[in-house]
Amino acid sequence: MPLRVAIVGSGPAGVYTAEALTKQAAAPVEVDVIERLPTPYGLVRYGVAPDHTSIKSIAGYLRRVLELPGVRFLGGIEFGRDVGVEDLLACYDAVVYCTGAMVDRRMGIPGEDLPGSVAATDFVNWYCGHPDVPADRFVLDSPEVAVIGVGNVAVDVVRVLAKTAQELRATDVPEEVLARLADSQVKAIHMIGRRGPEHAKFTLKELRELGELTNADVCVRPEEAPVSGELSALPRQVRGNVEVLQAWAARIPVGRPRRLDVRFWMRPVEILGDGRVEALRLERTRLQDGRVVGTGVFETLPVGMVLRSVGYQSVPLPGVPFSETTMTVPNEAGRVREREYVAGWLKRGPTGVIGTNKSDAAETVRTLLADLDGREPAARADLVPLLAERGVSPVTYRQWLSIEAAEAELARSLDRGERVKLPGLAAMLGAVAGRRDGAAPEG
Ligand SMILES: Cc1cc2nc3c(=O)[nH]c(=O)nc-3n(C[C@H](O)[C@H](O)[C@H](O)COP(=O)(O)OP(=O)(O)OC[C@H]3O[C@@H](n4cnc5c(N)ncnc54)[C@H](O)[C@@H]3O)c2cc1C
Ligand SMILES: NC(=O)c1ccc[n+]([C@@H]2O[C@H](COP(=O)([O-])OP(=O)(O)OC[C@H]3O[C@@H](n4cnc5c(N)ncnc54)[C@H](OP(=O)(O)O)[C@@H]3O)[C@@H](O)[C@H]2O)c1
Repeated sequence: MPLRVAIVGSGPAGVYTAEALTKQAAAPVEVDVIERLPTPYGLVRYGVAPDHTSIKSIAGYLRRVLELPGVRFLGGIEFGRDVGVEDLLACYDAVVYCTGAMVDRRMGIPGEDLPGSVAATDFVNWYCGHPDVPADRFVLDSPEVAVIGVGNVAVDVVRVLAKTAQELRATDVPEEVLARLADSQVKAIHMIGRRGPEHAKFTLKELRELGELTNADVCVRPEEAPVSGELSALPRQVRGNVEVLQAWAARIPVGRPRRLDVRFWMRPVEILGDGRVEALRLERTRLQDGRVVGTGVFETLPVGMVLRSVGYQSVPLPGVPFSETTMTVPNEAGRVREREYVAGWLKRGPTGVIGTNKSDAAETVRTLLADLDGREPAARADLVPLLAERGVSPVTYRQWLSIEAAEAELARSLDRGERVKLPGLAAMLGAVAGRRDGAAPEG
């Protein structure tokens, strides 16, 4: 009898875990990949920027894993709502939690809850067509916008704000989102780093792309570009970033429709506005004993939108241990408790590229197989009938393919790229039921 393993979450960590479990030779394993959405691939589908089509194509690799014999996709099943720890431990020999990091971190400054102050998680979900965020969530009616943070997510957000709708037409951005991007009034984007160019988290390739924007002039203030110490002493990636930024500081704007100001040594201290965001107050910073401190010199930007891109964080899963300090599930090489494991962002926090999750999943699988080595798999019930008793029926892999087909059909009908995301859950479930009217199936 094969070992039966439940994987919760179908992002890169979940799918790489499924691959590592089913491709090893030590023991036969069957896995169910349980996912709250009707669609697999996590942030590859709902995070990776729509114009990064070559990165998005990694979904092709993940797809082949979900099609392996011994792997079953159970979509539309939310851990904590439809199933819990006890259910899974009754139906499987082991459970691996791979639910990622779904929410934003906060800055903890006054005015953060004003309308117009938004999380990058929401904005990214919006342009990626995530069913949690409706297509009418954002109106880009402010001429000036601030993006807080200088990581790769901030770079994605800035690029989407800076590009024309025409440039994004061939991507999978939902049609209504594209219309709102076409109506965008944004003229100036301020990207704010609270430390120096040498401390920025973005990677060189992603940074360089900003310098190639045809719709925006990219500006860096010469006084914010220098770094302390010898450039040659910096690690190669960091030195590359600094060189690019210093070159931009010497650029003269050529009057492109939009302008991107990349700022350093400024921290947000208050979001101002009467009923909605009207301005952002910044304070110049410096480092003291390695910590960012304010200098008492302030500047106010007249922005109508503040997008905080200061990192993601995981949320606790009901009944599963969680550290409020690290905001991850405490584990030893992936082991949480007997027969319970963790992988991906939920295990190590929200850092690292897609590929990082492969080695991470491999470590968890090694731990799991070593723990279960020699253990006789118990005869266990299948999860699907248990779900049926609760009136829940999973979206199958084949049904997911019908959503994909509907997205391709929509793209063809709109004369856009390879696919266009369907607007919302009802439309996706409509495609599952074979309907084109966007209505959800009954029951
Ligand atoms: C905006 C953004 C853009 C990125 N772009 C890139 C890029 O271009 N290149 C790159 O290499 N890396 C990129 N990354 C990093 C990469 O996406 C992550 O390393 C990776 O997705 C983490 O994998 P994961 O499986 O741990 O989490 P996720 O990809 O978040 O997957 C978690 C899955 O769990 C599901 N889930 C959550 N809760 C439940 C529940 N209760 N029950 C069932 N299912 C649940 C979610 O719906 C999701 O499908 C990006 C990250 C972000 C945030
Ligand atoms: N194309 C790609 O490969 C790609 C695309 C997107 C994401 N990713 C990956 O996904 C991961 C997450 O990216 P991310 O951009 O969300 O996170 P990140 O890389 O951790 O960057 C977060 C940024 O927010 C800043 N910040 C944090 N708290 C702040 C505060 N209170 N006030 C002001 N600034 C604050 C950080 O500055 P400090 O450094 O000063 O804390 C940092 O600049 C990263 O590993 C990233 O590489 C990759």
